[in-house]
Amino acid sequence: MLGLIVARSQNNIIGRDGKIPWRIRGEQKQFKELTTGNTVIMGRKSYEEIGHPLADRMNIVVSNTKHFEGENLITASSLSEAVRLAGDGDVYIAGGYGLFKEAIPLVDKMYITEVDIEIPDGDVTFPDFNKDDFDIEVGETLGDEIKYTRTVYIRRSSNV
Ligand SMILES: NC(=O)c1ccc[n+]([C@@H]2O[C@H](COP(=O)([O-])OP(=O)(O)OC[C@H]3O[C@@H](n4cnc5c(N)ncnc54)[C@H](OP(=O)(O)O)[C@@H]3O)[C@@H](O)[C@H]2O)c1
Repeated sequence: MLGLIVARSQNNIIGRDGKIPWRIRGEQKQFKELTTGNTVIMGRKSYEEIGHPLADRMNIVVSNTKHFEGENLITASSLSEAVRLAGDGDVYIAGGYGLFKEAIPLVDKMYITEVDIEIPDGDVTFPDFNKDDFDIEVGETLGDEIKYTRTVYIRRSSNV
């Protein structure tokens, strides 16, 4: 399964000043649950912001300027190379913008957490895509001060 996983604001923002512009206790739990034991592919800036490979999963960083290598950590020069290197098992593309844009036509599923917040000064968005290509499952709404809703976009089969 090739998937992507993202959290976005009401106004479609995913980043500001190199960071995720909210901190919500528990919001990243699903990310950990889905990706542990599997593979995460991320852009160089997102990786550098985290600063280390995520534990207990394969980390593939996409970069043409830097090379990261270590336990559970490799570098690829393109998304297609990253997907090839990932091999079997579930693979999750974890941003940012360019990788999401390239991945949307390829993924089977998109795990999108809709965060109930407006970020007027965000500088990275989630790319536009055609909702009609997906069936949408709306899951739980969680959170205290800031609510967030889990949604899963499942690609519709093309032979309808
Ligand atoms: N809310 C969320 O769920 C979420 C998820 C992820 C990230 N974010 C946020 O998004 C922001 C970072 O995203 P970003 O879009 O600015 O950067 P990014 O995608 O993390 O990193 C961009 C870099 O990745 C490499 N790269 C990306 N696509 C590539 C491709 N197709 N082929 C080769 N290299 C590629 C390039 O590295 P080189 O320049 O080294 O070649 C590029 O400069 C941060 O604010 C982060 O916190 C939010």
